Amino acid sequence: MGQLIVVGAQWGDEGKGKVVDLLTDFSDAVVRYQGGANAGHTLIVDKKKVVLHMIPSGILHSNVVCMIANGVVLDPELLIEEIDMLVSGGVEVNRENLRISNAAHIILPYHKLLDRYREEKRSKKIGTTQRGIGPAYEDKITRRGVRFQDFLDKARFDQLLQQNLEYYNFMFENYFKKGTLKIEELIEKFDYYRDRLSIFQENTSWLLHQYLSKGRKVLFEGAQGTLLDIDHGTYPYVTSSNTTTGGALTGCGIGPHKNISVLGICKAYTTRVGEGPFPTELNDDLGIKLRTEGGEFGATTGRARRVGWLDVVALKYAIRINSITSIALTKLDILSSLDEIKICTSYSYNGEKLAYFPNDSLMLSKVECEYQDCEGWNVPIGDIKTFSDLPENAKRYIELLETLLEIPIEIISLGPDRDKTIVRNHPFH
Ligand code: GDP
Ligand code: IMO
Ligand code: MG
Repeated sequence: MGQLIVVGAQWGDEGKGKVVDLLTDFSDAVVRYQGGANAGHTLIVDKKKVVLHMIPSGILHSNVVCMIANGVVLDPELLIEEIDMLVSGGVEVNRENLRISNAAHIILPYHKLLDRYREEKRSKKIGTTQRGIGPAYEDKITRRGVRFQDFLDKARFDQLLQQNLEYYNFMFENYFKKGTLKIEELIEKFDYYRDRLSIFQENTSWLLHQYLSKGRKVLFEGAQGTLLDIDHGTYPYVTSSNTTTGGALTGCGIGPHKNISVLGICKAYTTRVGEGPFPTELNDDLGIKLRTEGGEFGATTGRARRVGWLDVVALKYAIRINSITSIALTKLDILSSLDEIKICTSYSYNGEKLAYFPNDSLMLSKVECEYQDCEGWNVPIGDIKTFSDLPENAKRYIELLETLLEIPIEIISLGPDRDKTIVRNHPFH
């Protein structure tokens, strides 16, 4: 396969960063296509930890171009922090390995403030990351947005800022009863950001097509997860972009090429950060144990992640709406100390079995889960290098999942490090 789209198959934090970093070895370009600094993708290489929010997880590899495509909402301030963090750790970041789409929308300070004020005012919270994601996408759709190319043209940017601040300051003052933003301070900050970021500008859709037409290998890195998709997720407890395969196409300007396959990243259990329904959630000691052993604390906000059993109903839904062709199963090592492991195989609602994953969050919050039990393996598996060396019960668990999901599990991740991975069948082959 020439191109591989990587999507989160659950509610985010499935280990996309780790898997993308690993697969970058076989890629010529890595493209982020949606979301913004709400994402936190963790890479661990030689025991060093790097958390990326906007820069694609291929950046640690040389000879690979990383692109931030049009579908991303870009926070210049945090992007500069991210670049500086990489450079201080010895990773070069320059035009050779990073390009930013002219058409990507910019997150401005008023987006972050609005995200915060709204969340404070809501009686039913969403639990956003407060990175300004929703308000920035809202401006994009209503055509008030500022694109990277507008930001690079100082006269255009200053004029757009003036117009938009009139609107936002009115709202901050009169609706939220908060202070206003001063244009001079914003202009000064953004003049600095422009100086730092202008070298990365690119028509990434055009560049990407150069790669595709030459048959080069491209990895598309999703952020968040299927169940946080604005259309297909657990609305309104979702993020503001299409986190699914469709978002990859519009998010970087490509069509459904015949050479594309889709890899779904899936944790061996389930987690969720923020509010919203979670049918298999474990609100008991076992949930606390999995959270502690799995280090389930947000890579962006540090919040404790909610934890639950693996949910095959939700996963089959993710496979259907993304056209997922194979799975990378992560964090299997975290299940190693359990005597018994459960997999949710069906939902019932008002005593009747549901044929599919409901698209109504209220209904989803009331479903009852039916579980299949699997025997645990009770030995550490982190250092195992081949599928055949896994304990019999771990193999059985994986094979049962493949039967239930009806697609292959090609990658099995047994630890956060790059080398703690079993690749049964390479998704690029
Ligand atoms: P992402 O947002 O999908 O990239 O995932 P995050 O980085 O937010 O969260 C995944 C966490 O699990 C990170 O701390 C990773 O280092 C870690 N991780 C990834 N794969 C594995 C694995 O197979 N086993 C263990 N124990 N940790 C893993
Ligand atoms: P990665 O890419 C997990 C969640 C937030 C909140 C909801 C809306 O690391 O998997 P937003 O700030 O996007 O408006 O918040 O979405 N959320 C994530 N949860 N992983 C993420 O990204 C997330 N990005 C957003 O917690 O519930
Ligand atoms: Mg994350």
